[in-house]
Amino acid sequence: MATDPAYSGMNDKLKLGKGRIVGKYADKGKDNGKWFGEFKDSEENYDEFLSECKRVLKKSTGHIYIMFDSYSLLSLGSVVRSHFDVKNLITWDKVNIGMGHYFRRRHEYIIFATNGNTRKIRNRKFPDVWRFKRIHSSKYPTQKPVEVFQAMLHASSEDSFTVCDPFLGSASSAIAAIKNNCNYIGCDISDKSIEISSSRISEYLETGKDNIQTKSMAVDDKIFWE
Ligand SMILES: C[S@@+](CC[C@H](N)C(=O)[O-])C[C@H]1O[C@@H](n2cnc3c(N)ncnc32)[C@H](O)[C@@H]1O
Repeated sequence: MATDPAYSGMNDKLKLGKGRIVGKYADKGKDNGKWFGEFKDSEENYDEFLSECKRVLKKSTGHIYIMFDSYSLLSLGSVVRSHFDVKNLITWDKVNIGMGHYFRRRHEYIIFATNGNTRKIRNRKFPDVWRFKRIHSSKYPTQKPVEVFQAMLHASSEDSFTVCDPFLGSASSAIAAIKNNCNYIGCDISDKSIEISSSRISEYLETGKDNIQTKSMAVDDKIFWE
């Protein structure tokens, strides 16, 4: 499982950017830029979400990667421990700085955990800081580079494994799954997400072209693709 939930905390509680999803997007969407439903990051809600992840993740081999911004990591990160065996806290260094009223944000976090099993990752050369450039003026709000998901899958998947992302967004994780020869299940509550994802996935399968992320965001992390 590799997922990037839409947390509400950063926007709600820090009141950045007038409570809108922070960032610059090609299409501002409706409702003053609130393009999609955010996932209310209460512990109770998160607990329920993680219980469902645990239910569907294979006990014998399952690995899970969950992305966090700094706000949600501090409020919800510890809840992951009550469901899974947390093995690493990975830092995604976005190389270029972003928004921020104090120190400007340049990173996000990824918790890597297993479902009570001891299956290892592909090899022990991978660092826990990943450098992939952020996407500017993305077509979908909070669109992540495919390479971030590819790094997760390169470390954890084998051919024909099934990857699940319950917060599909623009299907960046789906493109990574296809590149890693995996099957894929994704879902999202937003119609726009399903529309963009369907077109992106079909075009990629037909032509090998990614119609949303046209260039690689990798900087120097060749280690992940060796
Ligand atoms: C941070 S975005 C994912 C972005 C994605 N990783 C990408 O690269 O495009 C989170 C997504 O979660 C969706 N979402 C919010 N609440 C949801 C829920 N309860 N169930 C499923 N999807 C939800 C939003 O519509 C949004 O598309």
